[in-house]
Amino acid sequence: MIGRRKFVRDAMAGAATLSFAPPMKLAGSIGLMLAGSRAVGSTADSRIEVLLDEELGTISPNIYGHFLEHIGGVIYDGVWVGENSTIPNIAGIRKDLIDEMRKIKAPIVRYPGGCFADSYNWRDGVGPVDQRPKRTNFWIEADSTTSPANHRFESNRFGTDEFMRFCKAVGCQPYLAANVRSLPAESLDRWVEYCNSPAGSTTLSDVRASSGSSEPYDVQYWGVGNESWGCGGNFTAQEYAVEFRRYTNWLPQYGKPLSLIASGPNSDNWQWTREFFEAIAQKDKSLFDSIFGWALHYYTWNLSRGRTEDWDKGKGDALQFDVQDWYEVLREGGRVESLIEGHWQIMEEFDPDHKVKLVVDEWGPWYRPGSELTRGNFLEQVPTLRDALFSAMTLDIFNRHPDKVTLASPAQLINCLNSLYLAHEDKFCVTPVGHVFGMYSAHQGGRAVRTIISAPNANYSRDNKTASLWGLAGSASIQNKELMLTVVNPHVSEVRETDISLRGAAIRSGTATVLTNSDLHAHNTFDHRNEVSPQVKNELPGGKTITVEISPASVTKFALSLI
Ligand code: AHR
Repeated sequence: MIGRRKFVRDAMAGAATLSFAPPMKLAGSIGLMLAGSRAVGSTADSRIEVLLDEELGTISPNIYGHFLEHIGGVIYDGVWVGENSTIPNIAGIRKDLIDEMRKIKAPIVRYPGGCFADSYNWRDGVGPVDQRPKRTNFWIEADSTTSPANHRFESNRFGTDEFMRFCKAVGCQPYLAANVRSLPAESLDRWVEYCNSPAGSTTLSDVRASSGSSEPYDVQYWGVGNESWGCGGNFTAQEYAVEFRRYTNWLPQYGKPLSLIASGPNSDNWQWTREFFEAIAQKDKSLFDSIFGWALHYYTWNLSRGRTEDWDKGKGDALQFDVQDWYEVLREGGRVESLIEGHWQIMEEFDPDHKVKLVVDEWGPWYRPGSELTRGNFLEQVPTLRDALFSAMTLDIFNRHPDKVTLASPAQLINCLNSLYLAHEDKFCVTPVGHVFGMYSAHQGGRAVRTIISAPNANYSRDNKTASLWGLAGSASIQNKELMLTVVNPHVSEVRETDISLRGAAIRSGTATVLTNSDLHAHNTFDHRNEVSPQVKNELPGGKTITVEISPASVTKFALSLI
């Protein structure tokens, strides 16, 4: 918490240099998963039991959401290439990006920040392009002085209308984050009016029409500030509760209720949750009816194993890591489950009916600078196979808590931390994280069912002592007799021979899709775009129990048709 506050204040000054073991190959071979049926009583060392009659709730498609900020190369280069560019584009937006996001059924995108949101005046980004002002980007002090000028000085070439065009092209919903730190509440009112007032009804609806959309955008999701405990105003929770009420009271709705998302805690800042909820309850418990979400942010950054809380020194490297750090990232990242449960419990003390749900709208590993594919792209890092497992593990956790988590987005979609895509000029690639979102999209809207997984722990040497991580983890969901089971095997070298058994149905047939590589550090680049990509293995056998081999260091999706 202090480290992240410091980050936002001091803006990434001087990362420490730590030395790491050179990239290593896995000891064992990793073939595609083999599958065969076997009678109960097999010699499998692991077991996954899917309890089809124990539903946990419907998985909100929006937990497969995304996040875009005016930071580094995310918008300019990543998303926006310009209408006159030779790079294939749709109204100035990178076509490859749109195409890929359609494939993964991207449901919602948060914009324009992040910390940037609390410095942004939406009015700067609408109206005639040649009249839009040029402003100083929020991140100027953190970004390098040698990074491209349009990263440090905001041209406002991409604004609300361009974002709405992007959403329309992708087929996703917009989620706008409003400025609470540096603009008055009136500005949020007017932004809602600009986006949602009926055609021809207001001066702002006319401005919108002159920018190409007479029809309202009908933006439902609105974030009220971002990280209001830090870059979003440095408020106390009590102060923020007052601001939240002031900014949201009597916002125009135009007959379509808004889903308002309050700025929640950083990681395990239980106090922030408790004090905000307490302050709202003290004022008026019925206010919980008008809060849709409570935004938790959790970055996995500290790989120091308790040695430091220093924001710079605690970080590991995106590409150069040893086996210990392979496991540490997963161990640290897995904490998000206890954060979901812990904050949920506190929320329940004040909002026993859980009218307010959790929104995890910034998550992912955060490594030290240095791996960026495009020099000068602030916060860009290159996701590896490790980050694919991390992302799969996180999505499985969200799937297992459909009653609690209603929306989520990793930070950030392209050219940033845990990105699905990397792009520069005419070059583009899908990262291993992007492939995980592709594999997991089939969970969207499914009914999550309880899954009991038992597998030998993955043991590893942690500071010369044996440490253990879970052996397999995953989630399952069902839609129209199609069962989706996703499983992560974190072990760097051991195959898990696993019985998958269903309670309440049997498997007719199925396929397995596996994402793995013999190199733990494998990643995709502009020149090697398919080092890590999913492989589909057809023809799983039928039956009530099947036995499969789950590859080491892998993410596997079983798509099973049931009888
Ligand atoms: O994702 C990068 C930054 O991390 C966001 O702008 C901010 O909300 C968080 O601190």
